[in-house]
Amino acid sequence: MAISALTVFSTFFLLLLFTTATLSEAATDTDTTTYIIRTRSDLRPSAFPSLRDWYSSSLHSSDNILHVYKNAFHGFSAVLTDAQASLLRAQPFVLSVLPDRARRLHTTQSSRFLGLLNANSRLLAQSDYGDDVIVAVLDSGIDPKHRSFGDVGLGPVPPRWNGTCQAGPSFPAGSCNRKLVGARFYASGFKAATAHENSTAEVLSPYDSDGHGTHTASTAAGRSSRNASLFGHASGTASGVAPRARLAVYKVCWTAGCFNSDILAAIDDAVSDGANVISLSLGSGPVPYHLDPIAIAAFAATAKGVLVSASAGNDGPGEMTATNIAPWIATVGAGSIDRSFPADVVLGDGTVVAGVSIHTGSASDAYFPLVYAGNVSTSRVGYHSSAPFCMPGSLDPDLARGKVVLCERGAVPRAEKGLAVREAGGAGMIVANQMIDGQGLVPDAHLLPAVAVGATEGIVIHAYIAGQSQPRVRFVFHGTRLGVKPAPVVASFSGRGPNAVSDYLVKPDLIAPGVGILAAWTDSAGPTGLSADARRTQFNVLSGTSMACPHVSGIAALLKGAHPEWSPAAIKSAMMTSARVTDNLGRAISDESSGNGSTGWVVGSGQVDPERAVNPGLVYDLTADDYVDFLCGSNYTQTEIRTVTRRAADCSRRSAPWDLNYPSISVVLEEQREAAGRLEEVTVRRTVTNVGRSGAEYSVDVRSPAGSVVTVEPSKLTFAEGGAKLGFVVKISAEERRGGGVGSARTEFGSITWRDGKHVVRSPVAVTWRGQY
Ligand SMILES: *[C@@H]1O[C@H](CO)[C@@H](O)[C@H](O)[C@H]1NC(C)=O
Ligand SMILES: *[C@@H]1O[C@H](CO)[C@@H](O)[C@H](O)[C@H]1NC(C)=O
Ligand SMILES: *[C@@H]1O[C@H](CO)[C@@H](O)[C@H](O)[C@H]1NC(C)=O
Ligand SMILES: *[C@@H]1O[C@H](CO)[C@@H](O)[C@H](O)[C@H]1NC(C)=O
Ligand SMILES: *[C@@H]1O[C@H](CO)[C@@H](O)[C@H](O)[C@H]1NC(C)=O
Ligand SMILES: *[C@@H]1O[C@H](CO)[C@@H](O)[C@H](O)[C@H]1NC(C)=O
Repeated sequence: MAISALTVFSTFFLLLLFTTATLSEAATDTDTTTYIIRTRSDLRPSAFPSLRDWYSSSLHSSDNILHVYKNAFHGFSAVLTDAQASLLRAQPFVLSVLPDRARRLHTTQSSRFLGLLNANSRLLAQSDYGDDVIVAVLDSGIDPKHRSFGDVGLGPVPPRWNGTCQAGPSFPAGSCNRKLVGARFYASGFKAATAHENSTAEVLSPYDSDGHGTHTASTAAGRSSRNASLFGHASGTASGVAPRARLAVYKVCWTAGCFNSDILAAIDDAVSDGANVISLSLGSGPVPYHLDPIAIAAFAATAKGVLVSASAGNDGPGEMTATNIAPWIATVGAGSIDRSFPADVVLGDGTVVAGVSIHTGSASDAYFPLVYAGNVSTSRVGYHSSAPFCMPGSLDPDLARGKVVLCERGAVPRAEKGLAVREAGGAGMIVANQMIDGQGLVPDAHLLPAVAVGATEGIVIHAYIAGQSQPRVRFVFHGTRLGVKPAPVVASFSGRGPNAVSDYLVKPDLIAPGVGILAAWTDSAGPTGLSADARRTQFNVLSGTSMACPHVSGIAALLKGAHPEWSPAAIKSAMMTSARVTDNLGRAISDESSGNGSTGWVVGSGQVDPERAVNPGLVYDLTADDYVDFLCGSNYTQTEIRTVTRRAADCSRRSAPWDLNYPSISVVLEEQREAAGRLEEVTVRRTVTNVGRSGAEYSVDVRSPAGSVVTVEPSKLTFAEGGAKLGFVVKISAEERRGGGVGSARTEFGSITWRDGKHVVRSPVAVTWRGQY
């Protein structure tokens, strides 16, 4: 088979996918606490040149000040003992001293945002924090010395574990422990593909010299780490979603990419090693399942009871950009959390443009000259198309030196733009979204002061530059803000449906936190991942569906721990039917790229809600044979099916592909058939398994997609006992023509929801009208 490089889905370097989570295993420790101190800044004595000096003097130290707030909120935040806090309260200039609750226990915020609260979590309690579950992470390896991977207090390695710990450079024998139970690396595919290249920079061991794998592994199952932050940003206690789950690491990604051959070998090994969940924050464009090595290997894993969770990719917001879209994979898109890193771009005329930044230097009141990158190109003749994007070497130092450069988003990783501006002597950078990116902002740890702004803001800045003889600008950094609303919002970059391979399968399946996620980082790379970045940090803030995927992997591990008997399909169903479709303002989760509500192609079944998933009431279960029926019904040939399943298929049943017992529903109505004078009707069959109490009585609530009528028979289901299965039939008929004529397709979304007064079991329903071709 041809070897092709896959890319990882992070929004910098190539495309890996990332995350971080926060949970405190050590919630009782109270020696110091982060406090937010609100002050009357107008009382600052003139003896203190700055607010920071004044606040430091009041604490007799500047070391523990996290942020100084000067704009909407006046005051500062600091890590204090109770005694220091009491002293501050007595100061006349102090209005209030509030413990930073959300941060104290849950700094990396995303687990807390998902409702995984340490003290009250039924899921964490029932699963013993994932103690008996092994999560395999296929990525760029792991930094085994990181404190997120310590094993203090963990019991023996689960007896099921059958893997090994491969030693090598930077990964000495003994690097594994009761937390990191195994580690291997897969270099044959990458070596074969890059034999002609100079790859001496690669570390041939499971060691992670990149950082991505350390980040994703710690998000899924890192231990609780207090005092985690990226240079003070997002500070607090960082913890993986399943803090006691065991990690098995399979290094398949190298500088040159992640090779199919290596990934296949790693998935094979992960299954025979005894992993329960496989986390794949990598992929490539959507291809038919029999041509997709990840889909093929994931099928084998699923058939053996191993859940595969994979990122939907970062190629949004266009349609059909979701990857890893086989029905047996949990396909995860990315949303924001209620934390952001606001910063302002203040233009010389006083206009304030809002953006985000995780710049860590001190703010300056000085204005800098502002130039558009396209106007400071190295090319003296004509238009140099790489300059607007601040591509390496495209900016002329004579024109950019000492200035803030406005760069367009796109074409190269954002961190590389910062390097290009720095190399040209620039003082700072603004990265403006193009229209396609909408208002979606991603905070990056740039090498110089930089602010990311939305497409609308970019237009404002362009207009300002065009109208001024001497445009100038300054930045104001506001640090970390919690309690942001609305959240989640689906990230612009998140891969979207419809499913490019199967019309009858909604993808992505669900979303999870993937924007501005704090998690562990390797000590071999700076936070931008650029070789020019000499900074080092134990934790890094990354964005991507790479970050969302390990959240779902960790939740799947917790669900497996709580319900060891559940199949991968049951675990996935529990996460999907209990997912949330509203944000923290109670409105439909919106789409960052349009600002409008998200359709099912964007958000799938919704944002994963772990505390509801542990007790879903009903599940839509599936076996390997059901997937084979689906492939038969989708007209895959015997040879193609065999490629996926490694055995001959019996396609005599010819079941319809929309009858796959999936937790969501997608049907297509062909407009040409309406011409025959009859509006089309599709009959969809589903079976639910009661995983709740005996005697449960459910009734259905149907929201028909616009232009169609959906009925469910029977509309009530009564389960004599736990474990019982009951079927129902969904009839979907066209009520009116919805498509736009020849060659067009239009989809409307509705839902069917089963309720028993305690559980809410929701399935999105997609109806697509397709014009005559
Ligand atoms: C390969 O890379 C190493 C280390 O980066 C360097 O020292 C060596 O000169 C390179 N060899 C070639 C042939 O480029
Ligand atoms: C917290 O982390 C910072 C930065 O890594 C470090 O300087 C500081 O000493 C740490 N504080 C504690 C209490 O560990
Ligand atoms: C354990 O691993 C060995 C080789 O690594 C493999 O042959 C064997 O099948 C595995 N055992 C199980 C139960 O998968
Ligand atoms: C620089 O670029 C802007 C676009 O932001 C353009 O409107 C302006 O005319 C250019 N200025 C010069 C001096 O070339
Ligand atoms: C957002 O919704 C408005 C109002 O329904 C609509 O006019 C607009 O086209 C939508 N925008 C996008 C990008 O879908
Ligand atoms: C499979 O092929 C049959 C016969 O050509 C066709 O009627 C049917 O629509 C196809 N099914 C799918 C899912 O493409």
